[in-house]
Amino acid sequence: MPAVYVENVGDHEGSEITLRGWVYNKRSSGKLQFILLRDGTGSIQCVAFKGNFSPEQFDVLDKATQESSIEIRGEVRKDSRSPGGYEVDVTGFEIFQLAENYPITPKEHGTAFLMENRHLWLRSSRQHAILKIRHEIIKACRDYFDDQGFTLIDTPIFTPNACEGTTTLFETQYFDQMAYLTQSGQLYNEATAAAFGKVYCFGPTFRAEKSKTRRHLMEFWMVEPEVAYANLEDTMQLAEGLICLIVDRVLTKRKQQLEVLERNIAALEKISRPFPRLSYDEAVKRLQAAGSEIKWGGDFGGGDETLLSEQHSSPLLVHRYPSEVKAFYMQPDPDRPEVALCVDLLAPEGYGEIIGGGQRVDDYDLLVKRLEDHKLSAEPFQWYLDLRKYGTFPHAGFGMGIERVVAWICGLSHLREAIAFPRTLYRIYP
Ligand code: 4AD
Ligand code: MG
Repeated sequence: MPAVYVENVGDHEGSEITLRGWVYNKRSSGKLQFILLRDGTGSIQCVAFKGNFSPEQFDVLDKATQESSIEIRGEVRKDSRSPGGYEVDVTGFEIFQLAENYPITPKEHGTAFLMENRHLWLRSSRQHAILKIRHEIIKACRDYFDDQGFTLIDTPIFTPNACEGTTTLFETQYFDQMAYLTQSGQLYNEATAAAFGKVYCFGPTFRAEKSKTRRHLMEFWMVEPEVAYANLEDTMQLAEGLICLIVDRVLTKRKQQLEVLERNIAALEKISRPFPRLSYDEAVKRLQAAGSEIKWGGDFGGGDETLLSEQHSSPLLVHRYPSEVKAFYMQPDPDRPEVALCVDLLAPEGYGEIIGGGQRVDDYDLLVKRLEDHKLSAEPFQWYLDLRKYGTFPHAGFGMGIERVVAWICGLSHLREAIAFPRTLYRIYP
């Protein structure tokens, strides 16, 4: 009897198979027991008829509790009424372990309780659907860049460099030196772009965000492309294409999961390029008209991003923010040096920024000055300055936070559900 995954049960209609998984749900009606078995690839109803078992055996099965691990043998039968189209008539079974008092029951639980039990909560259908979609999004990102000839180059986690400002650094001892956990692989991407032309990195990044928001995690995954000789417009187009591919993939391959999440699929189906482009100047005017306190020169708060992104059913490209509010490496606009050649992509439906990027400073002297302006010691940046000494080149790229994209695509109200084990301000367990 072959061991089969639930997702492949349909290939075995009429034959005997073995399934291994966990009891998701169970009900009995005297002569019959209905076990909903899940194995990670899906769930299927298994029906045990009293007449096929000894009374003792039937009783053992009857005591199988939620989340008990079990092997079930039986015959696959087509059943148009069941969600997956098939059922299994149980001929034999073996309980590996009887799970007692599983803490997560079908009743409502509070968020704190669920987060404390995150290691178990992941088994629920909603969390399962979210993480399947996350996987699809990551796969789409890789395919997108791989198919365009990008080379994936992993960047380090331990680094001496503050890429995104000094206020959110996680410091750690590195033998007799201090190191930081990386905030972004960008600076290293700039080095590899000079060696490979088109590169991307994809890994965990770390930020000690001291305010509690639904949009920030301490540890999040970022995909970051960097392209030699690309400009701001190229970067915006690269970002647009990526978002369109992600949406398209999830709609084609993960509709079932979107349905589990009761996601408004029509909102995703509307997404198409080109996305509207809005300068920071125009964005400020719009925000002021909508009642925001923002003044020219200030960075957008979470509320401002929500406001802007609620005004559109499409993602929005906001470009040319004041250099003052952006990182040291941003290239000034030659026509208006007070603004940077940068872009943020805001997701619709109030989700706000999911991508940040732009053109990088390529002039040695300007970069030295920018480091000084940002009170960053030039010493750990010598290697980065070298890139402006030995064949400097215009280049641009961006970073996209995976959890922010997952939250938007899945319609989640908080980033904590977008990653298996979220690291939040007050929680590092489990
Ligand atoms: O806008 P950010 O800070 O840009 C950079 O890090 C650039 N160095 C990227 C580059 O150009 N290569 O961050 C990029 C994205 C944000 O748009 C957001 O999606 C995500 O990273 N992000 C976070 N996601 C979750 N939790 C946090 N604390 C995040 N901070 C940024
Ligand atoms: Mg940003």
